[in-house]
Amino acid sequence: MNILGIETTCDETGIAIVKDGVEVVKNVVVSSSSFHKKFGGIVPEIAAREQVKVIIPAIKEVIGSSKSEQVDAIAVASGPGLIGSLLIGVETAKTLALVWNKPLIAVNHLVAHIYANWLSRKTTITSLVFPFIALVVSGAHTDLLFFKNHEDYKWLGGSVDDATGEAFDKVARVLGLTYPGGPQVEKLAKLGDPMKFNFPKPMINSGDFDFSFSGLKTAVINQLNKIKMNDRDLKNIAASFQKSIVDVLVFKTVVSAKNFNVKSIAIGGGVAANLELRNNLAEAANKFGIKVYSPKANFSVDNGAMVASAAFFSKKYVDPRTISADPGLYFS
Ligand code: KG4
Ligand code: ZN
Repeated sequence: MNILGIETTCDETGIAIVKDGVEVVKNVVVSSSSFHKKFGGIVPEIAAREQVKVIIPAIKEVIGSSKSEQVDAIAVASGPGLIGSLLIGVETAKTLALVWNKPLIAVNHLVAHIYANWLSRKTTITSLVFPFIALVVSGAHTDLLFFKNHEDYKWLGGSVDDATGEAFDKVARVLGLTYPGGPQVEKLAKLGDPMKFNFPKPMINSGDFDFSFSGLKTAVINQLNKIKMNDRDLKNIAASFQKSIVDVLVFKTVVSAKNFNVKSIAIGGGVAANLELRNNLAEAANKFGIKVYSPKANFSVDNGAMVASAAFFSKKYVDPRTISADPGLYFS
């Protein structure tokens, strides 16, 4: 079954065709991130205007000359996300479903981030089995979930303030780096000493599965304001900040996996591309015989393929006449 996946929840326009939920036939991602650089974060209106321009050419590029014949269903991320951006993807998907007479499947963007693990990863397809713990770390969300089966999951906890990616982006800004800051903070951190600054590890001992990264961000800003920093200090700050975040994420994720007695952890979302997180989590989980799965780096960030994959496994068909974009969609 070939599903055309459409992803426009934030600043990317992701269009892909995925066969049977796992095999990526074609994948195109157009990002407007360069337009947001000078503002230090995403400007929703700019994101939506760019998406209006690029969505039809991106769909044309993905479907190629065989047009709609190869598409068996259309999938769209209907939330959560920016309302202007979401509307573009959802209205396009509805229109195509009606005009091409194809079934339409609506997908939760955050759940789709976890399904990125199954994309073109042969070992994951056979060995990532239910139940597992899922950690979603994106620009706008941080969530821990217990996945019993497809469409059967329990939300364990999440961020009470800044999301993981948001904290990376805000710290990047005060370090003088451009948006999106996460990959740049990671690059800078590689050159620094993570033990140099003793930043807080918020809520690490809170005994629940919630997260808070706003205070950590403030601690970094306070440190920067204290004395004039040289290049070495900035590298050490990036490394120490990243260590605090990674330590909290790793600790709570491994504790949840032990509590729920699972043998696998799957991570997803833009911050899942962070190698320090991937490696430290794998190392900590391996001590308890728990295996960690992460998507290929290009499928960690927003893309249409993960939407098509989640749709294949959920088969949650919706009526194109009644479905609407839902910016506040969460876990149900
Ligand atoms: O999942 P995503 O593409 O978009 C949302 O759904 O929000 O995540 C984007 C976020 C940005 O905050 C970006 O800075 C962060 O993921 N990110 C990273 C890395 N790559 C992307 N954060 C830390 N380290 C990275 N390597
Ligand atoms: Zn995302």
